This record gives sequence, structure tokens and C-alpha cells, in this order.
Amino acid sequence: MKKHNFNAGPSILPQEVIENAAKAILDFNGSGLSLLSISHRTKDFDDVMAEADALFREILAIPDNYKIFYIGGGASTFFYEVAANFLGRKAGYVNTGVWSKKAIKEAKRFGEVEVLASSEDRNFTYIPKGFAVPADLDYLHITTNNTIYGTEYKEDLDSPVPLIADMSSDILSRRVDVSKYAMIYGGAQKNLAPAGVAFAIVREDMLDRIVRDLPTMVSFRTHAENNSMFNTPPVFPIYVLKETLKWLKSIGGIDEIHRRNVEKAALLYDEIDRNPLFRGTVEKEDRSIMNICFVMNEGYEELAPEFLEFAKGKGMVGIKGHRLVGGFRASCYNALPKESVEALVACMREFEKMHVK
Ligand SMILES: Cc1ncc(COP(=O)(O)O)c(C=O)c1O
Repeated sequence: MKKHNFNAGPSILPQEVIENAAKAILDFNGSGLSLLSISHRTKDFDDVMAEADALFREILAIPDNYKIFYIGGGASTFFYEVAANFLGRKAGYVNTGVWSKKAIKEAKRFGEVEVLASSEDRNFTYIPKGFAVPADLDYLHITTNNTIYGTEYKEDLDSPVPLIADMSSDILSRRVDVSKYAMIYGGAQKNLAPAGVAFAIVREDMLDRIVRDLPTMVSFRTHAENNSMFNTPPVFPIYVLKETLKWLKSIGGIDEIHRRNVEKAALLYDEIDRNPLFRGTVEKEDRSIMNICFVMNEGYEELAPEFLEFAKGKGMVGIKGHRLVGGFRASCYNALPKESVEALVACMREFEKMHVK
């Protein structure tokens, strides 16, 4: 049976990327060696890094005064590293869920944190708006897409202080104005690569604002100045990231993927809104196009386990909601084909026929 992969992360990657990665594991660039057993200090791997850099810049229109670098350790490592590097006195954070909270907790180790806005009062079902940003903060930190709750910023904020964004779960899903951000970072294991690598896009002048003497590996300067090669970078996930970027360019780049993502999300949200069995869990204007959360409608709550089983029987994978929200979450990352969303919608309709007379 065909599987429809709605996993929240690690998650679906394009089939051709997986096939290319499989080939490279067996024989990397005709070298007779596996990608898994080459040195990172080779011309071939330099080329991978250079191509990844060029593609990332081209697809996301990253200005020249930004550096891109990669680390192992995931987005969670950036939670404390961002603060270690840039939090001298006080930083502002917006609390939009679990990942923001984790970032806030780590930042507090390094200085004062002012939570400028929070959506915790309504279990993170919306994106706070219209909050004031004091001009004396070291930076403002946001989480642009809240993977667990399914809320997403739709616009790039204007911030009087350097804006730093965790874009783990919506990077490259839509166009962003990179010049509005001092730094964008995230784990790559949703829209870009398998687990094992995190990316950072940092404006060069931020590297002159590092506020303390840091261990070498914690300082962003180390990674930016050594092209992610100060130590051994995660060779395999970076290769896959490069292949995913190639795929993204080949299908038409950021505007085309955004068009597809909006189309997929609309299909599913329309069904959630139409089908009497289900309802969405977040404010409509803040609905994520990546992580689509929904629950059984009032009166039908007890059908949730049955729907999960039914959907599983139709090949749906990974649609159980996060335990903090319950219900269902369909993660519709870049590589998820429209057919998978159509299959989920068909499944919801069939379930409706079984239960609504
Ligand atoms: C928005 C967001 N930030 C951070 C993380 C944590 O990423 P990592 O597991 O790479 O540390 C996740 C993981 O799902 C996430 O969705």
C-alpha cells in the first residue's frame, strides 16, 4: 500500500533526493567510495558545500552580507548559542509554544529575558500581534512556525532591534525577506535534510556583536569564518540538503513551492472546515501551511482513536497530534505531494459517510 508521510520531523524528502543519496552512499561521484566514508576535506566535498551555499542563496535570495553555516546538534543547540553569542544584557522573546519556551529557558542562563508577547493564555492557538519592541534589547527572538500547535507568522516582522528567528519547520516553504532578519536558524530535518544538521543564516555585522569570550565551538564566528569546516561537519545530511535544494530549484524555486504549499494547505483546511466530524484548533489567520492541526468536532470526540486506525489502514503515517494538543496533525512539508493531501481528504470524507447520517 502506498504510504502518505505526514511525519512532523524527520519527515518526507523528495523521492529523487533519497534515490540520489542512496546512489552516493554506494558510490560518491564515481569515486569508488561511499559518501559515508569520504573525508570532508576533499575537493568533492568542497564542491558540495559550495553548491549548497550557492543554491541556498539563490532560492531564498539571501543577500551577500550574510553567511550560511551548519552545525550538528540541532536547533536546540542554537537556543543557547544564540544567547551565548548575542545576549549581553537583555533580549526580547515571543512565546508561541514549546520551542519558544525552550529557547527562553536557555537564554535566561546568559542574561535578562523579557517575554514581549505570549499566546500561552489560549494554549498557543494564535500568533500574538501588535506588541511593542523596546529599542534597547540586544535582539528579538521569534519562532516563525510552531510545529506542535500549527501556527505560523505570515509576514516578516519589522523590528527596531536585530530579529532572530527559529525557522526549523517553515524554512524554504515561502519567500521571506532575509534582510529583515539578523539571523535565521533551524534544524534541517523537516524541509531540507535527514536529522543531524542545523543551519544558520547570519548577517555578517552580527559576528562583531558577539558579547562574550566563548568556547571555540560555541562562537558563531568559528563556524562562519571556517565555512562550517572548523570541525568535521555532518557530511551526509549536508549532502542531502544540497540535493534537496537542487530539487527545489528544479521545480521552480521558492514561489512555486509556496504556491504548492498554499494549495495543499487549502485542500486540507477546507475539508476540516466543511466536514462536520472535524474542526481546526487555531485562529484561521494564523494557520500554518506546514503543520495542520485538527481535532474531532464536539460530540464526536470519542471517534478519534477509530479515525486514527481508519487513516492508518489507508496508508496515512504520522497524523497523530502532539500529546500537548491531541487530535491530529498533518505535516505538509515541501516534499509532500498533493496526492497525499487528497488521499487524507478522501479518508476524512469516507469516515464522515460512515458516521454522519
Ligand atoms: C520550531 C522548532 N524549533 C526547534 C526544534 C528542535 O529541533 P532539534 O530537534 O533539531 O533540536 C523543533 C523540532 O521539531 C522545532 O519544530
